[in-house]
Amino acid sequence: MKRVDDFRLKFGKKELVPILVGGMGVDISTAELALEAARLGGIGHISDAMVPDVSDRRFGTKFVKDKTRFFKHNVDNSDKSIIKFDLGMLAEATRRHVEATMQAKRGDGLIFVNCMEKLTMNAPRETLTVRLASALDAGIDGITLSAGLHLGSFALLADHPRFRDAKLGIIVSSVRALQLFLRKNARLNRLPDYVIVEGPLAGGHLGFGMDWAQYDLATILAEVVQFLKTEQLNIPVIAAGGIFTGSDAVSFLEIGSAAVQVATRFTVSNECGLPTKVKQEYFKASEDDIVVNTISPTGYPMRMLKGSPAIGAGVRPNCESYGYLLDGSGHCAYITAYNHEVALHPDAKIISVMDKTCLCTHMRNFNLWTCGQATYRLKDTTKRREDGSYQMLSAEHIFKDYQFSIDQKIALPT
Ligand SMILES: Cc1cc2nc3c(=O)[nH]c(=O)nc-3n(C[C@H](O)[C@H](O)[C@H](O)COP(=O)(O)O)c2cc1C
Repeated sequence: MKRVDDFRLKFGKKELVPILVGGMGVDISTAELALEAARLGGIGHISDAMVPDVSDRRFGTKFVKDKTRFFKHNVDNSDKSIIKFDLGMLAEATRRHVEATMQAKRGDGLIFVNCMEKLTMNAPRETLTVRLASALDAGIDGITLSAGLHLGSFALLADHPRFRDAKLGIIVSSVRALQLFLRKNARLNRLPDYVIVEGPLAGGHLGFGMDWAQYDLATILAEVVQFLKTEQLNIPVIAAGGIFTGSDAVSFLEIGSAAVQVATRFTVSNECGLPTKVKQEYFKASEDDIVVNTISPTGYPMRMLKGSPAIGAGVRPNCESYGYLLDGSGHCAYITAYNHEVALHPDAKIISVMDKTCLCTHMRNFNLWTCGQATYRLKDTTKRREDGSYQMLSAEHIFKDYQFSIDQKIALPT
C-alpha cells in the first residue's frame, strides 16, 4: 500500500515532498506555517492579501494608519474612487513580508506567495505589477496566481529578471480556464511551472458557480492531465480541495497528480494565523454548519461557517483603510449593498446587510470563517480535553500525517 512519501514532486532536478500547504489570506497561512512546510521538504504558501496590514502586525509599520489618515476626509462619501494605494508603500510591505519569511527559511522545501487577482485595489494592473515584482525582488521561490483568470499577469512580469527562474503557477478549476491562460500567454514563450486544479470542496473562494456540487475534482483533474498530454506539455498538475487524509492524497497521486495542495487540516495548527477561539469553532463544526454563499463582493461563491460574525454584519465600508476589492473605477459590491440598506433604514443605528459583506474588514478581523467542506471532520484529527475544547496540532504533525499515513488513518496527537 502506497503512501505520499513514495512520491516526489519534481521541478527540474529538485525533488520535493509532494505536499503544498495552500495560501490562506489574510495571514491565515502565516509565515510560520509556510516555513514549517518548507522545512519538512514540501511547499508552503504565504499570501499577499492585505499585505500592508500584515506588515503592520508583523513588523510594527503604520501603513494602514497612514492610509486611513490620508483618506479620512472621504469616510462619509459613498464615492470611493479617489482611494488609491501608494505603490511605494505596497512594494515596501510586500518586500518586508517576503524577505523576512525567506530569511527564516530552513530545509529543502520552497515558499510561494499566493496572489489573488480579485484584489483589484482600485488600480488592478498597477497594483498587481507591484505585488508580483516586489515578491520576486524579495526572493520568493515562486508565485501561485489565484482567484481570477490572470490572463495578463505573466505579461506584467515579462521584463522582470526573475521571470524565467522563479516558479510561477496558476490555480484553475476547469480545463477551459487553463486553455485560455495558455492561449493568452503563448507569445511569451513561458509556460507555467505548475498548475493547481482546485475542485469544489476547497476553502476560500470557489472557481465555480452555485452549482459547485455538480463538479468533482477527480474528473476535472483527469481532463487537465489529458489535455496537457495531448498538447505534449510537461507541466506538473496539483490536485486541491477536500483531500483530507494521506490515502486521499495517494489516490490523486496515482491518477496523474504530481502533488496535492491542502489547507483545511492546517487551519487548526498552532502555526495557523486564526485566533485560538476561531480554531475551536472549526473543530466544533458539523456538516450542517458549513455553507457556500454569495456574500463575497468578488462575485465568486465562498465557503464558510454559518456562525461567521461577518454574515449579516452591517459595518460602514472601510475602504479608506483597506479598499482591496475596489475595482478599477472605485466600486465594490458591498458599498452598493450597504448604501441600499442605509437608504431603506435611514434612522437605524445598526443595520444588517445580508447579501454582501465587507470582506476586507471581516477577513482582517478573522470574522469571516472561510473553510473547506471537510472542516466538519477536523474533530476526528485530535483529542478532546476535559473542558470540552480540542487539542491544537502542530503543523509538523499534520504534514507528516499526510506524508506517511496509510489506510485512511489519521494519527492523533500525543
Ligand atoms: C481558511 C482558508 C482560506 C483560504 N484562502 C485562500 C486564499 O486566500 N487564496 C487562495 O487561492 N485559496 C485560498 N484557500 C484555498 C486553499 O489554498 C486550498 O487550495 C484549498 O482549501 C484546499 O482544499 P482543502 O482546504 O480541502 O484542503 C483558502 C482555504 C482555506 C481553508
